[in-house]
Amino acid sequence: VEFCKGINGLDKVILREVRSSAEVYLYGGHVTSWKNDHGEELLFVSSKAQFKPPKAIRGGIPICFPQFGGQGNLEQHGFARNKIWSVETDPPPFPTVNSNKAFVDLILKPSEDDMKTWPHSYEFRLRITLGPGGDLMLTSRIRNTNADGKPFTFTFAYHTYFSVSDISEVRVEGLETIDYLDNLQNRERFTEQGDAITFEGEVDKVYVSTPTKIAILDHEKKRTFVLRKDGLPDAVVWNPWDKKAKAMADFGDDEYKHMLCVEAAVVEKPITLKPGEEWKGRQELSAVPSSYCSGQ
Ligand code: BG6
Repeated sequence: VEFCKGINGLDKVILREVRSSAEVYLYGGHVTSWKNDHGEELLFVSSKAQFKPPKAIRGGIPICFPQFGGQGNLEQHGFARNKIWSVETDPPPFPTVNSNKAFVDLILKPSEDDMKTWPHSYEFRLRITLGPGGDLMLTSRIRNTNADGKPFTFTFAYHTYFSVSDISEVRVEGLETIDYLDNLQNRERFTEQGDAITFEGEVDKVYVSTPTKIAILDHEKKRTFVLRKDGLPDAVVWNPWDKKAKAMADFGDDEYKHMLCVEAAVVEKPITLKPGEEWKGRQELSAVPSSYCSGQ
């Protein structure tokens, strides 16, 4: 584990395992790189991404908290991705500690100013772990530390941008026949058809109560990403396609071809925590050659 300066002098942490690596910016508690043991980048970060607070970094794994989406008077996808997190050297024990792994513990707590926009006190602990096989694990623990006895409610997402060679060759498995809320149609509810999902245009769907394992098959790269999740019942699938891509200042016009967001999330049924209660949500990513996965 190495602490250093990244783009625009922002602090970052580098995790290394035998040959794989990951990079985390304290700005946003944001994973911006995950490389396999051939040094290949597995996450998409836009060439136009700005590493300038308060604009969230376009790509990698933004943390959406305390809301997914843009409801109410909170900013779109909440403020966690726009805050500078701290490294926590001695967090309360995590249930699954493995000292052989490279990991970093981050923490976010509200300032007095922050409490003007969201009037709650919380401790958000995020452990980012790179396993010996190159797997990337993110574990979030959010605790209500309100002194006034008040509960709070939130939604959440690990807004993961996977790097893919060609979106029209990508298939997503694990969401067949699952109900989804379509963000492009006023969050109306539909049921997905029975085949693996493929992409021919803009997609912005919140799949609800999905299986815990979702696979993203990149035919051209012969690579399969496997996403496993715990405590995160929903999964968002997003690709802006050409028109929306052009409308985003921090996203290249053609970059939609090389990314896909599949986001382990809690959207449909928000979490409510009473003071002293803690919620946990975990996402585990692995990238394997496709041949290993055939028939699974
Ligand atoms: C997705 C949402 O998760 O994030 C989309 O479902 C949204 O509606 C996209 O456009 C990107 O959001 P932002 O705030 O990072 O531009």
